[in-house]
Amino acid sequence: MTELVRTDRAEETTGRWWRDAVIYQVYVRSFADGNGDGIGDLPGVRSRLPYLAELGVDALWLTPFYTSPMADFGYDVADYRDVDPIFGSLADARALIDDAHRHGLRVIVDVVPNHTSDRHAWFRQAVEAGPGGPARGRYIFRDGRGEGGVLPPNDWESVFGGPAWSRLPDGQWYLHLFAPQQPDLNWENPEVHAEFESVLRFWLDLGVDGFRVDVAHGMVKAEGLPDVGHTGQVKMIGTGVVPFFDQDGVHEIHRAWRRLLDSYPGERIGVAEAWAPSPARLAAYIRPDEMHQAFNFHFLTTPWEAAGFRAVIEESLETAGLVGAPSTWVLSNHDVKRHVTRYGGGAAGLRRARAAALLMLALPGSAYVYQGEELGLPEVLDLPEEVLRDPQRLRDPEDGRDGCRVPIPWTGAGPHFGFGPPGTGEPWLPMPLSFGPLSVQAQSGDPLSTLSLYREALRIRRERRAFGDTPPVWLDAPGGTLAFTRGEGFACTVNLTGEPAEMPLPGRMLLASARPAVEDGVVRLAPDSAVWWERDGL
Ligand code: NOJ
Ligand code: CA
Repeated sequence: MTELVRTDRAEETTGRWWRDAVIYQVYVRSFADGNGDGIGDLPGVRSRLPYLAELGVDALWLTPFYTSPMADFGYDVADYRDVDPIFGSLADARALIDDAHRHGLRVIVDVVPNHTSDRHAWFRQAVEAGPGGPARGRYIFRDGRGEGGVLPPNDWESVFGGPAWSRLPDGQWYLHLFAPQQPDLNWENPEVHAEFESVLRFWLDLGVDGFRVDVAHGMVKAEGLPDVGHTGQVKMIGTGVVPFFDQDGVHEIHRAWRRLLDSYPGERIGVAEAWAPSPARLAAYIRPDEMHQAFNFHFLTTPWEAAGFRAVIEESLETAGLVGAPSTWVLSNHDVKRHVTRYGGGAAGLRRARAAALLMLALPGSAYVYQGEELGLPEVLDLPEEVLRDPQRLRDPEDGRDGCRVPIPWTGAGPHFGFGPPGTGEPWLPMPLSFGPLSVQAQSGDPLSTLSLYREALRIRRERRAFGDTPPVWLDAPGGTLAFTRGEGFACTVNLTGEPAEMPLPGRMLLASARPAVEDGVVRLAPDSAVWWERDGL
């Protein structure tokens, strides 16, 4: 009987691996430098696959490594079918995908369909061709307003600050919701659809297991490109309602892509990077015939406070459940301040980040881990002005994303903490001395380290695929704390306050972000901590 159940489960997980997968985000530029030029690359990632397999994640998501002038560090793609020489070659990509598979890791790559680079062949042709021709019809070109067309066609603002329109010397304006080097494509043009379907096939044929779809909510713009009517329109990961994001028409594109993904063997997945005003709007992206997952930024932006977390967890599960999709959970990525710092920084920030990890990994659905969060890395807040590179800083110096993109430390000592081979160049962003004690090497042998906590949590989670889709059942818990069970045999308690909290002992301790005190059937949870419990009966 037990045997039968196990077989069923195995089939279920191989068939639908993504429903509870832990997916590790590799920001390629900052992960591992294989050739010593100070910039992370594909051979570097390949050399660290054993680390990722041992960590216990199920899949990698690689940020863009395609040919790019790097105005937005790869999110400005000049050739979707080739690898930028900074990151390696197509042969390196192939070898990485194959090797990852040999390590039991799936590979998800980024696709950037909202905009290309201004150096993409199509945009160059559009610039050369002049107004009116088919080459301009692949992008969003318009004449300006006002006398002589000197004013932008509408009042839309770029996510990175300033107007979302730039003017060419011939007088026409083109739309760029991000940097001027990232012209928006015109998804009303069938040629654009055909091109991206071909790009997806190219990478699927190379063996990738899915795509993270950049700005998946942006490809379709409201009819007539109407003004927004106010300034301060949208920030990265915004929830504002604007005529250039989250238009109903984008779903047709996702449906077509889903049909394409489903035409390949194995479960190849699409993950929407969609900023939607509410969990309900977000759930539309993961209807059964659309993407498999969407990042849950509502969870990411929730402050460290029990009621808010419970509310966002319940709402996320409910709305994803309505469309039969798993929810996802994410605490950090390459666009936001690392959560150690968002939760207050220092010792308290780290305590909370460790607790948040156990909370996230105890929830039903799929979890995303951003490289270095398993080391408890904080945001680097004191990068010298002259090294800052992120285009988002143009909008607001406080908003720059360089501090979460600093290379990760592999060794406790030595030049650049093992980011590259011995004798290599300066990393593209300097690594602070404080990264040494947080390195993979420094934490590996320490059972109390954050790295050990992640490894252990991922091991237990793997062992208990039983976590599956079972929803959490909330237990009574004192104010400022959360307690829930998942099925019969497992419970998780989280104390989100700075004071110890007492509750009836939920079971036998499996794993703790900070050790609780247990006495006479009562547990005293440490401040800002989470504990996993084995319940009686299983
Ligand atoms: C979202 C990506 O995560 C971010 O890094 C990028 O700047 C924008 N999309 C534009 O492509
Ligand atoms: Ca390199």
